[in-house]
Amino acid sequence: MSSASMPAWLIRLETAADAPAVEALSADSFGPGRFAKSAYRLREGVAPVGALSFVAIEDGVLRGSVRFWPIMVGGHEELLLGPLAVETRQRGRGIGIALMQAGIAAAGQGPWRGILLVGDEPYYAKVGFARLPPGRVKFPGPVDQNRILGLSLKSGEMLALSGLVRRARISDPVCAAGAAIG
Ligand SMILES: CC(C)(COP(=O)(O)OP(=O)(O)OC[C@H]1O[C@@H](n2cnc3c(N)ncnc32)[C@H](O)[C@@H]1OP(=O)(O)O)[C@@H](O)C(=O)NCCC(=O)NCCS
Repeated sequence: MSSASMPAWLIRLETAADAPAVEALSADSFGPGRFAKSAYRLREGVAPVGALSFVAIEDGVLRGSVRFWPIMVGGHEELLLGPLAVETRQRGRGIGIALMQAGIAAAGQGPWRGILLVGDEPYYAKVGFARLPPGRVKFPGPVDQNRILGLSLKSGEMLALSGLVRRARISDPVCAAGAAIG
């Protein structure tokens, strides 16, 4: 392969110093409406899995980011993919796919059985996600059943997740100490 066709960006783990740029990219990509989504409810007060948060960097500039959140599915801790965002002018270069592949490969080393997400099946099918049978999992709040996708992390196995999707443990110590968490 000639050097001209090699991607100039690299994928690495997100660090604390990346957080402001990652937040800004998320705000640009999803707008204020992101806080109203059902998926956001599952993330509130819960920290993303640090070992699965990846960024794409080119010339020292953030091009894209992916994070994964722990969620409870039918009483087991599993993963929720997203947010995934790529800078507007850098889309279509393979950055989104590469970010997800890095996250999925790292997730495969962990204890989780599978990954869920709410999104466009034609895009996420590129990294192996498939639509779940309607009613297999139940998200809190309104979610389009056709956009609930899953991926098994156990190679060769069908995705075995089913049941209620709930928020994982609260990781914010202030919240965890409070009694009235809804
Ligand atoms: C979705 C997003 C992350 C894709 O990032 P990207 O780096 O452009 O994606 P890639 O370059 O890896 O993949 C591009 C391919 O996916 C396809 N694609 C992108 N979005 C798609 C969608 N919603 N449905 C179907 N295909 C899609 C492109 O047509 C392209 O196909 P090709 O390779 O056959 O030409 C980016 O467009 C983005 O940040 N969007 C705004 C935020 C968002 O919607 N995030 C997803 C929800 S969490």
